[in-house]
This record gives sequence, C-alpha cells and structure tokens, in this order.
Amino acid sequence: MSLVSPPALRARILGVGGHLPERCVTNEELATRVETSDAWIVERTGIRQRYIAAPHETATFLGARAAEAALRDAGVGAEAVDAVILATSTPDEAFPATAVRVQAALGIRRGFAFDVAAACSGFVYALAAADAFIRQGMARHVLVIGSEVYSRILDWSDRTTCVLFGDGAGAFLLGAGPAEGPGLLSVHLHADGALGDLLYVDGAVGQRERSGFLRMKGQEVFRHAVVKLAAVVDEALAANGLDKADVDWLVPHQANRRIIDGMGKRLGLAPERVVVTVDRHANTSAASIPLAMAEAVGDGRIQRGDLVLMEALGGGMTWGAALARY
Ligand code: UT7
Repeated sequence: MSLVSPPALRARILGVGGHLPERCVTNEELATRVETSDAWIVERTGIRQRYIAAPHETATFLGARAAEAALRDAGVGAEAVDAVILATSTPDEAFPATAVRVQAALGIRRGFAFDVAAACSGFVYALAAADAFIRQGMARHVLVIGSEVYSRILDWSDRTTCVLFGDGAGAFLLGAGPAEGPGLLSVHLHADGALGDLLYVDGAVGQRERSGFLRMKGQEVFRHAVVKLAAVVDEALAANGLDKADVDWLVPHQANRRIIDGMGKRLGLAPERVVVTVDRHANTSAASIPLAMAEAVGDGRIQRGDLVLMEALGGGMTWGAALARY
C-alpha cells in the first residue's frame, strides 16, 4: 500500500526528539557474559555499545520523554495533540496500548491513541497512519513515537541476537500544513507474512510454555533487507518523480552498519550524508529512525528544506520507506 499525497494538506515534521536509558553497555562488558568479542560485533554489525533500560525505564517512560522532547523542539504544547501513535514490539502491557499510557503521562485527555506493531518497520508504518489522518483532516497534530525495550525480550545467553539490540525511544510531532509546503511526500509499506519465521518473538501474553525471546535467522534477514530496501527506496523516489541525486539525507533503520553503508553507496550519497547511530545505540527497532533523526536535526546536520529518505525492514516480514521534505 502506498499513499502519495495529492490533496490540500500535508503532514509537516514540526519537531523531533529522542530519549535513551541511562545505562550504557559496551561490547567489552557483553563479552564478559556471552562468548563474543568487541572485534566480532564491530566487524559484523558496526555496533560498539547499546543502552539498556532499568526497570523503571519502560516503553511508556522512554516514549513519553521522547515525545516531550519532540513537543519542546516544535514549541507546541501537549494540549494541541490530537493523536498519539506509538510503534513498539515491547509494550508495557497487552492493553491498554503504550500510546494511551504515554498520552496520560503527557496529561492529554482528548483525541485518540493506539499502538502499531510492525517490529523494526513500526515507525514507518506509524508515519503512514499519521500522514493519512492528517491529510484526511482527522487530526491536526499527531505524535508519532517509536519506543522499545528489546532488552526484555532478548535471550541473554544467545550471542547471535543479544549483542544486536538496544533500548530507546524517538518521536516526531507532525502537524497539518499546506500540501505545497514541506512535509511527508509519500510513505510506502509492504509486508510478507510468509517470511514471518525469519524474525519473531517466540510467545505472547498467556503462552507460558513458550520462551518469549526474540529469534532471528540473521543471514536470511540480511539478504531480504538488501533486496527489499533497495526496491522500496526506488519505489518512493519514482512515486515523487525524484532521483537518487535529489536525496540530501538517508536516515535508515539502524540494524547493521553493512546494510546502511550498502544503501548509502547505492544512492551515491557521500558517507557524511548518511545518519548512523547503530555504533552507539545498536538496533533499537521502531525507535531507531526517530532517534537518528533527532540526533541529526539536533546537531544541525539536517536543515529545513532538506530531502530526507527513511527506510526500514523488520519482523513480519515488514518493510517500508518514507520521503520527507524536512
Ligand atoms: O532490525 C531488523 C532487521 N534485522 C537485520 O537487518 C539483521 C540482519 N542480519 C545481520 O545483521 C547479520 O546477519 C548478523 C549481524 C545478525 C550476523 O552476521 P553474519 O555475518 O550474517 O554472521 P553469521 O550469522 O553468518 O555468523 C558467522 C559466525 C558463526 O560462526 P560459524 O558458524 O561460522 O562458526 C556464528 O556462530 O559468527 C558466529 N557468531 C558470533 N561470534 C561471536 C554469531 N554471533 C556471534 C557473536 N560473537 N555475537
């Protein structure tokens, strides 16, 4: 499914924000617990450290801090928010949705709020939903949040997965603006459930006989990522009559440095035009794109008017891309 905005409204990125847990865990520290090494993790993934949530740093807690940062960045008060859409695979409870908990934490008592479950593609899926609500006139200000505590679903004795992920949250405040102005140009979503067993969490609420741990066939996911992300990026550019050379910034999902670098090269982008956080955050799933965006906007790299390409692939299998004029 894709949405290419024709009508009178466009979803503008008014503010961005991120929040990371306090505790940083280096590769060296992990290597004291599982049979791995800093050298292996850096060579295969580019990851050097990750942040791991303390018990009080829940998906709600991290998501609310990121949302507050996005509101501050936009200079918009929480009372203006019409909808909270939160992407997560690690909600604090089966229900109510973590989005509703965040809404309450921000003191918002109007509008609507719900979670999106699309694993690492969750933020792109949530952007698509927010974009549609704004363009249809159903909401003027939408908080789009990715908030994850993967440390709670990792098998810490499985070195093939536990070294790859980290916790964190990122958020955009989107606001309705004129269709001819800046904002989300289009969002493109895909899913193929036949590939669901390549990356999944073994269990759900009430299934006590299952482990509840993340399981991944890493090499196969890697192969799908390279092919599917290339195709969806081409789809996004073609839908807008744009060329690779028009892209100012690649803000990709941060799963593996090799996948990110490959996409940067494919687009012909100079390395400094690719926003990389995987070295410090590891893979924060649905939080990785808004966290990367918050960093690059915060330090002044991404400027108003720049063309930003976002892409992600994850469990489902789900994947997607979004193009935005910041
Ligand atoms: O965010 C959702 C999307 N996820 C992704 O895009 C992830 C995609 N996949 C990947 O990023 C990579 O496949 C991984 C980083 C997960 C793995 O890298 P790889 O180069 O595909 O390694 P591999 O799985 O082929 O493993 C190579 C070797 C194996 O040993 P043998 O069989 O060759 O003796 C593994 O047992 O590395 C071993 N290994 C490790 N060694 C040290 C696996 N994990 C570790 C580890 N430390 N942590």
